Amino acid sequence: MSRRTPLIAGNWKKNMGHEETAGLIRAIAENIAGLDDVDVLVAPPFTSLTRAKKEIGDSRILLGAQNMHWEKSGAYTGEISAAMLLDVGCTHVILGHSERRILFKETSEMVDLKANAAVEAGLNPIVCIGETLEEREQGKTFEVVRDQLEKSLNNFRIKKTLPLSVTIAYEPVWAIGTGKTATPAQAQEVHEAIRQWIEDNFDKDVSIKLRILYGGSVKPENAKDLMEMPDIDGALVGGASLKAELFLPIITFGEPR
Ligand code: PGA
Repeated sequence: MSRRTPLIAGNWKKNMGHEETAGLIRAIAENIAGLDDVDVLVAPPFTSLTRAKKEIGDSRILLGAQNMHWEKSGAYTGEISAAMLLDVGCTHVILGHSERRILFKETSEMVDLKANAAVEAGLNPIVCIGETLEEREQGKTFEVVRDQLEKSLNNFRIKKTLPLSVTIAYEPVWAIGTGKTATPAQAQEVHEAIRQWIEDNFDKDVSIKLRILYGGSVKPENAKDLMEMPDIDGALVGGASLKAELFLPIITFGEPR
């Protein structure tokens, strides 16, 4: 088990209107009231953030968005700034998810600008990286992950400081929404390499403290084994975060409460 407080984050993607948002948040809040050894976050679509915040009230649920733009304001039709997310009560933002990278052509250079802008504004970025099946089969997993880390966290590398408000999410693309999960050993191997990369590029202290989440078909049945790995500090959950009966047992690592 990792020595960092685990974070279980639900990435709702393009799902959940206001009423569904309110219902799911109520169900989560009622059930995590007594749990103080795990952080829980939900990332609804932009249009449900205000409703989510209202429903979260004083509960311990953290609120995140799924994307943002790096510029503070201006002529960027369809984009949202870090300040706007703070305005509606977000503390976190998911950046560089593989769906954004693949479907919307987001590059690591763009993710870097976003991560830097998020931290400057006081928002905690969850920076996603991960290899495709083809890259894994060609033995390029570590090369790809290192390249994404270098480019997506370049501004922090230049400043030689990686703030602990940054979380990294390792999400192998072949495991997202496919039902195929990386085995705990496969995930741990990459997480360990990411932590080593942080130590090599920043320092040991930050590498020990920074959270690295695993994402890709996390469900109640595999949560416990994944979370027992020493370098896995939580999960970024897609499909299984949309139903309380699946998300709640992930929060408790597959154990009954
Ligand atoms: P999944 O998605 O849990 O549905 O595989 C994970 C993610 O995309 O963050």
